[in-house]
Amino acid sequence: MNNNTQVSERGPLTNHPITESFADWSHMVDGKKFLEQLTRHAYRVCNYMAVTDNYEAFHQHFGQRGTIHFAVKASAEPFVLKKLIALGAGFEIATYSELRLLIECGLTRNIISKKVNFGQTQKERSDIKKALRDGVRNFATDNIHDVRIITEVAGELQLNKKDIRLQIRLFNAEGSSSGGGYSQSFNKRYGVDNEQAMQLAESITATGMTVAGFTFHPGSGSNNPNLWDYGVRNAAILSRKLKEELGVSVTELNLSGGFDPALPIAHYSAHILPLIESIYHEEGAALPESIDTEPGRWLVANAEVLIGKVSNIKINRDGTRIVTMTTGVSENGTLTDLGLDFDYFILENGKARKLEKRAELRANLHGRACADFDVIAENTPVPAELHPDNPIADDVFVVIHGAGAYSHYMERNFWCGITPPMKMNYDEFRNCITSEMNYQRALINSYAERSGLPLKNAMTFITHSADNKFGQIKGSEIAQILDNPELLNKLGIHILTSVAEFVHTHNIEKN
Ligand SMILES: Cc1ncc(COP(=O)(O)O)c(C=O)c1O
Repeated sequence: MNNNTQVSERGPLTNHPITESFADWSHMVDGKKFLEQLTRHAYRVCNYMAVTDNYEAFHQHFGQRGTIHFAVKASAEPFVLKKLIALGAGFEIATYSELRLLIECGLTRNIISKKVNFGQTQKERSDIKKALRDGVRNFATDNIHDVRIITEVAGELQLNKKDIRLQIRLFNAEGSSSGGGYSQSFNKRYGVDNEQAMQLAESITATGMTVAGFTFHPGSGSNNPNLWDYGVRNAAILSRKLKEELGVSVTELNLSGGFDPALPIAHYSAHILPLIESIYHEEGAALPESIDTEPGRWLVANAEVLIGKVSNIKINRDGTRIVTMTTGVSENGTLTDLGLDFDYFILENGKARKLEKRAELRANLHGRACADFDVIAENTPVPAELHPDNPIADDVFVVIHGAGAYSHYMERNFWCGITPPMKMNYDEFRNCITSEMNYQRALINSYAERSGLPLKNAMTFITHSADNKFGQIKGSEIAQILDNPELLNKLGIHILTSVAEFVHTHNIEKN
């Protein structure tokens, strides 16, 4: 364990400028205009600088022991990926597309081969092929089919099998549906027991590939570090057995993700790192040379907040309070009740005032789609002002913390024709988003980004029959535009102008 005792007492999710610097922005915002804007769409206010602080804090506690692999599925935001590349992080990917994004953000082949883990154990053959071609050499696995495909593809590509390093994914707890955090049922689909792990290790060794170590995921948002005990114990037992029975020395233990961003990272390292030493010692196994991690949520949850407005409050016969807002699952894809936290504000004389949440007063928070599944939280404390009889109840707006993880790339807008949330960074928000010019600009940028992303993806599919000019555009060039606010704004205006011209030249009838 490292000796740094200067541990931050708070987890990252307890900190975001929207609430931390409340006085700083609340008097800048024209409340009336702000509410009007929120009736049209939610806001996504980003504070990507937070990712640097988070990574550095995480690094202080786990960085000396092995590679920190950011789980790209938690946020594929280019700014986040570039920042983490610059900081020397490794990455965990679940699909080949995630690797493409990393390459576009500048991840080099040398780093790919050393610091990228393909963490999805149930992979598509073509993804394996493309990943191997681009240099990925570290894969997690939990099944013989996957091992067979990796070997076959490595053979086709004439790679040295020994260089391909597999971590066997173990169960995270006893039983088929256990563990912690939000994803307690990982064992239903992922992982193997110790007997199966030995069989897999034998099969991998027979192919000529390397058994590098073990991994397991205790469940996203696991607030109890004891949830790592089960996996560490089995990894130690298996490390000894592999040495004794197969003569194989494994060198890695991958603790994967699951760290709850509401808690300081020292909460985990202080328990898990000494635990590894004592359990490996007890089990008579050689200590892992590298103790790797794959945090997703912990590194990015506080990098974005969503802001929505309350639209309606209904009280059911059984007393359940139903609060419908201008943001929910269908408009922004934020996963239901996964580590989100809520602050409520109301306008007074045009300025925002924070409302006190009441522990005894609970509600279910929903978005506007007409389905029960559009629920963003259940049984969460709300302020007393959220009552149907309160004449200004629908002027309350809600700041949703933790939206930086597992929300952005699931955005969709498939029901009700709702405008997607408008994205901006914290400085734009603070510097008076309600000024007409800033608002228009943010709106155009938001649309341009949304149109640009599918365009970038479409580049992968351009065929020979496409126009020459199309064929020459590269995804990475569009990525550069999406990354540059000035160019993004120009692209937005260009797209809108083209649509206007298209409508005009095709003589589309006005209603
Ligand atoms: C293999 C793997 N590693 C890492 C993560 C990241 O987990 P978290 O965001 O909870 O830290 C996940 C998430 O599901 C995962 O499946």
